[in-house]
Amino acid sequence: MIYLDNAATTYPKPRSVRNAAFGAINSANPGRSGHKMSISASEQIFRCRVKAASLFGASSPENVIFTSGCTQAANMVIKGVTSKKGGHVVVSDLEHNAVMRPLSAVAGDGVSYTVVKTSQDDEETLRAFRDALRSDTRLVVCTQISNVWGIRLPVERIAAMCRQYGIPIMIDAAQSAGVVKINAADNFDFVCIAGHKGLYAPMGTGILIAQRPEIMRTIIEGGTGSKSRSLEMPDVLPDRFESGTPNLSGIVGMSSGIDFVKNIGEERIRSHEVGLISKLYDRLSRNRRVILYTARPQVDKCGGVLSFNIEGMDSESAAALLDERGIAVRAGLHCSPAAHEHFGTQDIGAVRISTSYFTTENDIFAAARAIDVITNIK
Ligand code: ALA
Repeated sequence: MIYLDNAATTYPKPRSVRNAAFGAINSANPGRSGHKMSISASEQIFRCRVKAASLFGASSPENVIFTSGCTQAANMVIKGVTSKKGGHVVVSDLEHNAVMRPLSAVAGDGVSYTVVKTSQDDEETLRAFRDALRSDTRLVVCTQISNVWGIRLPVERIAAMCRQYGIPIMIDAAQSAGVVKINAADNFDFVCIAGHKGLYAPMGTGILIAQRPEIMRTIIEGGTGSKSRSLEMPDVLPDRFESGTPNLSGIVGMSSGIDFVKNIGEERIRSHEVGLISKLYDRLSRNRRVILYTARPQVDKCGGVLSFNIEGMDSESAAALLDERGIAVRAGLHCSPAAHEHFGTQDIGAVRISTSYFTTENDIFAAARAIDVITNIK
């Protein structure tokens, strides 16, 4: 099987990640008890926190909050910043349902939101964000790389503008963490990260970098192993936002995934992934039945994601035909109907090919050949 569905989750995971995660399954509960095995588990978690703070430029390891994924992180920020306060939120038009659904949930509680039309021209995108800001805007939310189109948005510049207006910004880094250098302390108030994508960690892992935790209410309360007499969540970080037994094996696997990314470097990973996607783009451009939507991928403008359609064929059927030929891709709406509206594919979806550091040129050319076959062009 040729796996080209890395935007859903990277596969394969590095052997080091698999071994680390497996080794941590049989353990005591971290942070709960005073015996050696529990303390050792806590130390393993702390080591990952330190590494994550360094990789993502958090001001301290305490600003690293472990979550079950990017979706939980986005819910914590969107609901935590707006709940019981109302106000207005600005989002890009390329957001995933991990952002749009919590936003829609709080919209029922008196929060309004504006969807900004983004453009290939960063100046236009910035202008559109600026135009959408209001005196009651409580939060700006923007994806860094679209999970459907691979388009990279100028989040650092949007963040600088938000700073001028004193408005907090959350970025969805589900597709960019591990692929783009992120410096949270210099730019962002909140960064939502998926562990199982660009950090090559097990599924069920994620990180929220919370630079401004004080403006976020808790949305999940429970045991933290600290201040147990109080019915209030502790004020200290990360305990305030981490309740319940953590996903130790996932976090230990993620720790190893962070080492993997650090050793190679985000730039090199992105060049590899986008380089392959550009080659695919060039091959598909020669197929008259393939409909491409985005500009030719450039390493600084996108991630390793390309979505397309085949004339006269629905995207799910195309993906099924590719699967029969051993090519694993994802079709449909990719949980991002809003992002599909950007190119008018909300009714038909698209076929998505996405690369990882493990994808090879042979994989990409095999996919291109299979697409030629299913479109009957030899
Ligand atoms: N958000 C993931 C994707 O884009 C699951 O496929």
